[in-house]
Amino acid sequence: MDEELTIDVSTLTPRTIAVINALERAWGVGDVDALDDVLAPSFVRRGRRSRQSKDDLKSSVLDMRRAFPDLEMRVTRAVEGKSDLALYWTSSGTLHDEYLGLPPTGRQYSVSGATFSHFDGDKIVEENVIYDRRGKYSSLGVPLSSGNAAEDVDADSAVGTDVLRSMHRKMVTGVTVVAVESNGEPRGLAVNAFSSVSLEPPLILVCVQKSSSTYSHLIAARHFSVSVLAADQLNVAKVFATKQDRKFDQVAWHHGEHGAPLIDGAAVAMELELQDTLHASTHTIFIGRVRRVTTTDAAPLVYTNGAFFDGAQLVEASESSA
Ligand SMILES: Cc1cc2nc3c(=O)[nH]c(=O)nc-3n(C[C@H](O)[C@H](O)[C@H](O)COP(=O)(O)O)c2cc1C
Repeated sequence: MDEELTIDVSTLTPRTIAVINALERAWGVGDVDALDDVLAPSFVRRGRRSRQSKDDLKSSVLDMRRAFPDLEMRVTRAVEGKSDLALYWTSSGTLHDEYLGLPPTGRQYSVSGATFSHFDGDKIVEENVIYDRRGKYSSLGVPLSSGNAAEDVDADSAVGTDVLRSMHRKMVTGVTVVAVESNGEPRGLAVNAFSSVSLEPPLILVCVQKSSSTYSHLIAARHFSVSVLAADQLNVAKVFATKQDRKFDQVAWHHGEHGAPLIDGAAVAMELELQDTLHASTHTIFIGRVRRVTTTDAAPLVYTNGAFFDGAQLVEASESSA
């Protein structure tokens, strides 16, 4: 890290120097107990969407250090008040172990931020932290959307889950199997959150819950597949909507040219190269570049209102006379 960014502590009060030392020991070498010297037992740390106690903070520091063993943290500027302190800092590291569902990609992040602390005596009781979260995650390969809808917890909770559920039930979709080959094993799940993104370049997206057992294989993969199920493949949809092991033993399938497993007899089979991922709280949006497509005349399986329908039996809508 740039030497000029290191703060000159000679003009600072002992209280501020103690805080800087404790932060650098905790974040820089993992000595989280150094925080006990400067944080009150009732300490609370507030982020844009988080609230942490002292113990929460200690475990997230250790989590970060496990995932980013070369993590460096430097305080670059301090502004002191009577019972307040603003610290400006930079932090960087290389992702060597799994972190928030990300595989150890060896990617680096470097981020700047500021921490605003309020003291009671010589101990910090409250801290507010801001940093370039989007910059950090995009350098790790997880670009966040602006105003990430999943983060607006208050706004979200204003709309009840029942309303959201009935809204989703009105939607009509196809049903796909999103699949990947991982360590020689085919893995996949049923997904109806599929959409076209663009024709040029040929991009599609699927949205997958992080709790899915397929998720960690998918996020680590270079190629994956999307099979759009045919109307006579309700049994396949049901197999892939479960969490059982070895789902592919129960269906006919083959390897695509890029190695990902494809369901035999699907209405459409797509082979994709993972182009981008977008974190959205409990889910991740996977954007794939279409590398190969096979389409058939088979009608699609249709899903709406919690039930499956035969896509060959759809009746064309007519304009109302009113
Ligand atoms: C019709 C249908 C659509 C589904 N769509 C999605 C989806 O878009 N994203 C998702 O993550 N899960 C979706 N699921 C749920 C998963 O298929 C289900 O949780 C599955 O058990 C996950 O398997 P896994 O944990 O083995 O990966 C859907 C299920 C059904 C029946």
